Amino acid sequence: MDDWINKVDAAAIFGASGGIGRAMVEHFVQGGVRRIYAGSRSGNCGSFESDTAPAVKEFAFDLTNEESIRLAVAYMQGDPPDLIIVATGQLSTDDGKAPERSYRKLDAETMEQIFRVNAIGPAIIAKHALPLFTRDRRCVFAALSARVGSISDNQLGGWHSYRASKAALNMMLRNFAIELRRTHPQAVIASLHPGTVDTALSEPFQGNVPERQLFSSAHSAERLIDVLDGLTPADSGGFFGWDGEPIAY
Ligand SMILES: NC(=O)c1ccc[n+]([C@@H]2O[C@H](COP(=O)([O-])OP(=O)(O)OC[C@H]3O[C@@H](n4cnc5c(N)ncnc54)[C@H](OP(=O)(O)O)[C@@H]3O)[C@@H](O)[C@H]2O)c1
Repeated sequence: MDDWINKVDAAAIFGASGGIGRAMVEHFVQGGVRRIYAGSRSGNCGSFESDTAPAVKEFAFDLTNEESIRLAVAYMQGDPPDLIIVATGQLSTDDGKAPERSYRKLDAETMEQIFRVNAIGPAIIAKHALPLFTRDRRCVFAALSARVGSISDNQLGGWHSYRASKAALNMMLRNFAIELRRTHPQAVIASLHPGTVDTALSEPFQGNVPERQLFSSAHSAERLIDVLDGLTPADSGGFFGWDGEPIAY
């Protein structure tokens, strides 16, 4: 277990019902983080390994509903987190629309839904949650992005709305990092690529992924937390892979 976990006082995971989000909660539980806020749409993620311990506090929120995000953050106000991870995201829509392979398939409503979940929702979480950070200590805000959101790395195309929404997310986080630099010199804000991970999100698209390149959620969560451990305020606003390597925007 890394040193930083011992110093994290309270952590909040938005998306604790997801594959990677849930594994992050478990990792923090095992690391003995004193308070872990675990958020999901239902507000009930089933049992965590720690259910016997009082560390995990569940909360409900929906990325498409700002008031639910405001209330979720208000719930943390008395005992605020110094680490916030947004582990939500959508590749196919809730009603089963697969990512577009051609511009001919674009549909404004679907695009709006993907942008709302992948870019707007996390930005609204930042709007309400960043004021929880104290100015005089290390605080970290990270969101799960995806390497395919890199514009300069895009050689394959396709998945138009997903890629574009992740590029927008990356831009938002970079902007917030710049804004916070002045008031919160120890803050770190980062976009993270978790690798290709065996979760519900990737399941329909795993066909061509060699087995050794498909991570378990637990492995990805551990690597990402390690990456966050190593980031300094000078890295704030960056985009990093599960291996800690910076990814070009
Ligand atoms: N898996 C991969 O290979 C991979 C690769 C690159 C990037 N990523 C990124 O990693 C992140 C986590 O993905 P995952 O693989 O862990 O996916 P997952 O298992 O499908 O989890 C997705 C999470 O997003 C939540 N969510 C979706 N819509 C929401 C909404 N409107 N309000 C609140 N929560 C909502 C889901 O909540 P519900 O349980 O309520 O649906 C769930 O907790 C995503 O941002 C994804 O783009 C994943």
